[in-house]
Amino acid sequence: MAIYTVSKTAPVNIATLKYWGKRDKNLNLPTNSSISVTLAQDDLRTLTSVATSETFSQDQLWLNGKLESLESERTQQCLQDLRNLRSKLEAGDSSLPPMSKWNLHIVSENNFPTAAGLASSAAGFAALVAAIAKLYELPESASEISKIARKGSGSACRSLFGGYVAWEMGSEADGSDSKAVEVASQSHWPDMKAAILVVSAAKKDTPSTSGMQHTVATSDLFQERIRNVVPKRFEEMKQAIQSRDFASFAELTMRDSNSFHATCLDSYPPIFYMNDTSRQIVKLCHQINAFYKETIVAYTFDAGPNAVLYYLEQNETKLMAFIYQAFQRNSGWDSKFSAKDLAAFEEHFTF
Ligand code: ADP
Ligand code: DP6
Ligand code: CO
Repeated sequence: MAIYTVSKTAPVNIATLKYWGKRDKNLNLPTNSSISVTLAQDDLRTLTSVATSETFSQDQLWLNGKLESLESERTQQCLQDLRNLRSKLEAGDSSLPPMSKWNLHIVSENNFPTAAGLASSAAGFAALVAAIAKLYELPESASEISKIARKGSGSACRSLFGGYVAWEMGSEADGSDSKAVEVASQSHWPDMKAAILVVSAAKKDTPSTSGMQHTVATSDLFQERIRNVVPKRFEEMKQAIQSRDFASFAELTMRDSNSFHATCLDSYPPIFYMNDTSRQIVKLCHQINAFYKETIVAYTFDAGPNAVLYYLEQNETKLMAFIYQAFQRNSGWDSKFSAKDLAAFEEHFTF
């Protein structure tokens, strides 16, 4: 009996304008539009292999080597949507094997910490949906497939595209216009780089899904954010990306990270994703930008303590010399930095 199999990778995307809040939990529709940058394929990524055969007796998922429950409503919704699309194909072409009726075996591996605030659900569900869509030979566009990934995890819809991506919240009740679209390709602004500072690889105690529902239910500041802050910022950030304006992009990114974490703190009881080390990184970035009298780095924190820094490639040495100096790692970067600048840094730096 034939076994059909396909593998796909999906990269992590890190939001620069955060999705936080659902207006419809079942369809996973957000309370605001969001923007992200997708990391390179060979960076932080999920690798998912899927197999299907008439002989498989049940759907099964192995995540990072461990058998996981496939009962969650969101995974079931993704599988159902994909099977429905496949079933339509099969109805129109009787030579296709009837895979829509067969069970799936899914093996997935993340090459970075899972559930630690580094967007594992984004890469994870994007890879899962993309792999099955390929296995089923579905002709749908990336935006159409992104709507299915969205039901698995909201942030996953953005990982179906590379480069700079927007998730348009949409206004339809059935979610048919809540999808990811490309803002600009990676090659539009190719010198943008991301550095991940892993503060803790531990699994977070408040998963994103429950954290955001708690914020929507209890934070007043959250209402202000979605009504008066995010809509304007969404347009400004798209503009900053389109015109490759790093200073604006960076300020909007940092402000949005702070705004999102402020709504977490304003939830009741509060949610703490950032820790002391995270806050030291925030301070360090502002000091670096002040030292150079130019914005060379932006920080952003997802729902966890780990930092993602965005910077332009030409500033890598300038930035990393400071980062390694601050964390006292003898990495070789400091040798690329002049003694005079390092001395000035020591003077300015009140870590
Ligand atoms: P993160 O900040 O890492 O995205 P979340 O709380 O949003 O954390 O989601 C973590 C959950 O996403 C995991 O507990 C798991 O259920 C799911 N997940 C992570 N990686 C994968 C994957 N490769 N395949 C399927 N599901 C995944
Ligand atoms: C802070 O996409 O993980 O990373 O839709 O419930 O799975 P679910 O939530 P998820 O939330 C991501 C929150 C964030 C910001 C973002 O990625 O936009
Ligand atoms: Co997530």
